[in-house]
Amino acid sequence: MNYSSNSLQNQWMPFTSNRDFKADPRLIVRGEGVYLWNHKGQRILDGSSGLFCVAAGHGRNEIADAVHRQLLELDYSAPFQLGHPAAFEVARRVAGLTPDGLDHVFFANSGSEAVDTAMKIALAYHYAKGEGQRQRFISRERAYHGVNFGGVALSGLIKNREAFGVALPSVAHMRHTWLVENRFTRGQPKTGVELADDLERIAMNVSPGTVAACFVEPVAGSTGFLVPPVGYLERLREICDKHGILLVFDEVICGFGRTGKAFAAQTFAVKPDIMTMAKALTNGCQPMGAVAVSSEIHDTVTGAAPDGAIELFHGYTFSGHPAACAASLATLDIFEREGLFERGEALSGYFLDAVFALSDMAVITDIRGCGMMAAFDVEPGAAPGARGYEIQKRLYEAGMHVKFTGDAALLAPPLITEKEHIDEMCTVLREVLSQY
Ligand SMILES: Cc1ncc(COP(=O)(O)O)c(C=O)c1O
Repeated sequence: MNYSSNSLQNQWMPFTSNRDFKADPRLIVRGEGVYLWNHKGQRILDGSSGLFCVAAGHGRNEIADAVHRQLLELDYSAPFQLGHPAAFEVARRVAGLTPDGLDHVFFANSGSEAVDTAMKIALAYHYAKGEGQRQRFISRERAYHGVNFGGVALSGLIKNREAFGVALPSVAHMRHTWLVENRFTRGQPKTGVELADDLERIAMNVSPGTVAACFVEPVAGSTGFLVPPVGYLERLREICDKHGILLVFDEVICGFGRTGKAFAAQTFAVKPDIMTMAKALTNGCQPMGAVAVSSEIHDTVTGAAPDGAIELFHGYTFSGHPAACAASLATLDIFEREGLFERGEALSGYFLDAVFALSDMAVITDIRGCGMMAAFDVEPGAAPGARGYEIQKRLYEAGMHVKFTGDAALLAPPLITEKEHIDEMCTVLREVLSQY
């Protein structure tokens, strides 16, 4: 297939070095299973499930057919004061996967929208309870909660914040959980639980009764898969309970089998009050995000409004879009029929063994991982992130896609991956990394 590079100028690409890309484009034109194909006809192993979306692999006919059928039957209906069956069905299916009691699901169109929705629901809950003074949020250094203003304020990645002013001023950050002594730890690090006490320390400093919610990714994702220390999430839960603070797990990456269970909340046996999700909810086939909330939160907000009144003044034109719902239902069917969460859990040992076997490579300074997610850091080059980007491009040239954040490589292959694909992944990694 031929693609003219003359046509590349108009799209301002997201999170991309546009000038560099356009000088030497990497265009993906086809996907099937664990592979992508580029415009030169080269096969590319997808080592990061796109952006952690494509858990069931690329090119799933069932999903494409379901979206096609849905659009012919009902393409769109207004989601305010009207509903359509598929949205209720996705909500029911998602509530069946979330921890007991997180039974109410609000739809958005991305992880970023899910995060901002969760922030607003937390505020609305406290307001409905007569605690409208709870307006502060506590999140964490190195967090990524999307790119809308709420999520940027929660985020702890400097580059995602520095050009954009103060965002929301009412957010404080706990320390991140990366510790030098925990380098090359597989699974949960044994030390670091005390870092959770930052939550209490910050809350006490501003008065706990002014804090609405604590947001964390159970495994900090985009920053390079920081697995929570043993006892850390439990400690956050205890502190939240003690001070009436809502605990929100941002499961946009962790959700849908990535950590071995449906959600990280189940893997680590800690139940949040609110969970955000997106990405694999539709296997990446349609934009969709969702927020699951406890009955206590849902009932408090809905119960506070007079009969006949709108209870939550929030929603999107495309909340629960029929095509996204059709994609999601077909995706959830695949997860169930093919037992993909269990499959990921069973494959995790082999995957982590293979990735941790790279620890002898001189350029790798740390490896972390759990479930079907593993990250390694490379020794920075001339500037932070420069070597990571160079390695990412070399991996692509060698036939593999890996998401990098700065100098951290994030490996999260589809849950349909076979052992031979993991072997192929590690062979390419070794080949490229040995050049450093
Ligand atoms: C934990 C987390 N939250 C939110 C988001 C934002 O999702 P989206 O890019 O769909 O807006 C991401 C994206 O990677 C994420 O990892």
